[in-house]
Amino acid sequence: MTRMKTIKPLVLLCCFLINSALADEAAMLLKSSMADKNFVTLERVERDALQSFCSKPRSEEGDIETANALRESARAAVPMPTEDDFLGDWQRGEAVANNGRGLQYSDNPEQPNGGNCYACHQLDPDEVAYGTLGPSLTGYGARGQSLSMLEYTWIKLWNTHAYNVCSHMPRFGAAGILSEQQLKDVMAYLLDPRSPVNSGLSP
Ligand code: HEC
Repeated sequence: MTRMKTIKPLVLLCCFLINSALADEAAMLLKSSMADKNFVTLERVERDALQSFCSKPRSEEGDIETANALRESARAAVPMPTEDDFLGDWQRGEAVANNGRGLQYSDNPEQPNGGNCYACHQLDPDEVAYGTLGPSLTGYGARGQSLSMLEYTWIKLWNTHAYNVCSHMPRFGAAGILSEQQLKDVMAYLLDPRSPVNSGLSP
């Protein structure tokens, strides 16, 4: 019995050391098989605190305090527009949502990035090519334009991790993918009653 008690922590320690040695080796392999190209550099392989937390194997699930702290710091860093300044131009927003270009080494870094929203969401009901990783956003405007709705959508787009700590959606504002103006235009694309996203709603 006493021997079992001493062996168990030793086995756990051993597994931990093997696991972290393997993780280090995997990280080195990943880096050595890639190279900087144009404006895309190996810095992208480095994980920040949030990515590290969300990439842990299931056996090492993170604790709730860390999850809450990461979510809160994501939320605290979101710059909020003034109440009457959340919505831009839905037509420009449509172009941003439809554009999947940007951030690849073959893209022109002088051109603004796209949001690639259709890769994961249904938006305009007449668009047949869309991904389903995220929920359908068709008819999103039915939720109205109350301040809490505007704030929710803005925060979600700026840094989705402020709500869902291990979300699979890109951090469009926080990661500098889209500009504030592009995000306001996308907000209008989602919420404006004239936007095709809301074409199925009765006026
Ligand atoms: C790589 C996939 C991916 C891309 C690209 C993406 N999203 Fe998402 N999005 C998700 C997923 C998955 C969810 C649901 C889970 C979550 O909330 O994290 C989500 C949730 C949302 C929500 C909240 C839905 C609700 O019912 O409240 C909104 C709004 C949203 N996305 C808008 C956008 C917009 C606008 C774009 C483009 C600028 C975009 N997303 C691009 C994956 C994506």
